[in-house]
Amino acid sequence: MEYQIRTYQPEELAELAEFLNANLDYDSMSESLLKEKLEGDPVWEPEKALICHDGKKIIGFMQGVIRDIRGKRYGYIKLMAVEKSYRRKGVAKMLYEHLERSFKSDKVDVVRIYDVPMNYFMPGIDPRYTEALCFAIRMGFKRFGDANNMVVNLGAFDWDTAEEEKALKIHGIEVKRADVHEKQSVLEFVKEEWALWTHEIEMAFIDDPPSVHVASLHRVIKAFSAHNGNNKGTGWFGPMGTHPDLRGQGIGGILLKRCLKDMKQMGQKTAIIPWVDPIDFYAHSVNARVDRVFWRYEKLL
Ligand SMILES: CC(C)(COP(=O)(O)OP(=O)(O)OC[C@H]1O[C@@H](n2cnc3c(N)ncnc32)[C@H](O)[C@@H]1OP(=O)(O)O)[C@@H](O)C(=O)NCCC(=O)NCCS
Repeated sequence: MEYQIRTYQPEELAELAEFLNANLDYDSMSESLLKEKLEGDPVWEPEKALICHDGKKIIGFMQGVIRDIRGKRYGYIKLMAVEKSYRRKGVAKMLYEHLERSFKSDKVDVVRIYDVPMNYFMPGIDPRYTEALCFAIRMGFKRFGDANNMVVNLGAFDWDTAEEEKALKIHGIEVKRADVHEKQSVLEFVKEEWALWTHEIEMAFIDDPPSVHVASLHRVIKAFSAHNGNNKGTGWFGPMGTHPDLRGQGIGGILLKRCLKDMKQMGQKTAIIPWVDPIDFYAHSVNARVDRVFWRYEKLL
């Protein structure tokens, strides 16, 4: 095969976005979103963003990134697609083998597909991309779990929380939008338990006003919620967290609704609550429904 693998060049952004839109049947990718996935990655490695060309035409793309998490080094395929008319010709295999060699020389322990903490497009393979499942199995990956995205119809309610907030105030708990100067305090709050959320919180603080809401007890932050910290502009919720001592008082629900209200005001029709663990919490608080399901795969190197 004479196809050539080269690294992504910034001037190819528009062409690559068009290529992905044509070849990802269940997703859409704007140029700004693609840029966020590439250069916006907190550990952006241009040499792992691989494009396969036939002459001048893009026929395949695979982006790899690395994360060091709790003593383990993870390599991820963050995005991949092959031009429809070039499938089953070994293009993805060639790209993956190239990427795996690079991961091996970087001493990666485990490779996963799509579910990249901090900056990801989707948290696993949507099984409707059946070819991608076949590809993963054939490349030696094993399925180890699922991830769910939930969806909220923003038009269903006004998401007003004034009354609930009044009730909390009696107990000394104040809920408000985070001020830009409170970024460090929010980051400090997540440092121990939720360090992997730092990047998304920082991204949400870029917005003016910040897409972050906080609850404080005696002026100390005890809970927060954020949106627009990943996949910006798509109505992407999260992360959020409440200190264990204050759980069960409705604080999380209020903070969640504040973000939904923001997203509605930004013109979104629906909000996506991605990679959800507490399905019952979101279903109960804001009538979120499970929308997309993703299968997670990994391969030990
Ligand atoms: C998944 C995808 C990237 C695979 O690209 P590809 O270049 O066609 O894959 P390859 O030709 O390198 O396939 C390598 C192996 O994977 C397996 N495979 C790939 N596609 C398959 C299919 N449609 N059916 C069965 N096996 C398949 C085969 O074992 C194949 O080897 P073989 O042909 O020697 O048997 C491509 O189908 C694609 O772009 N799909 C849409 C985008 C997508 O799903 N992205 C991931 C979203 S989560």
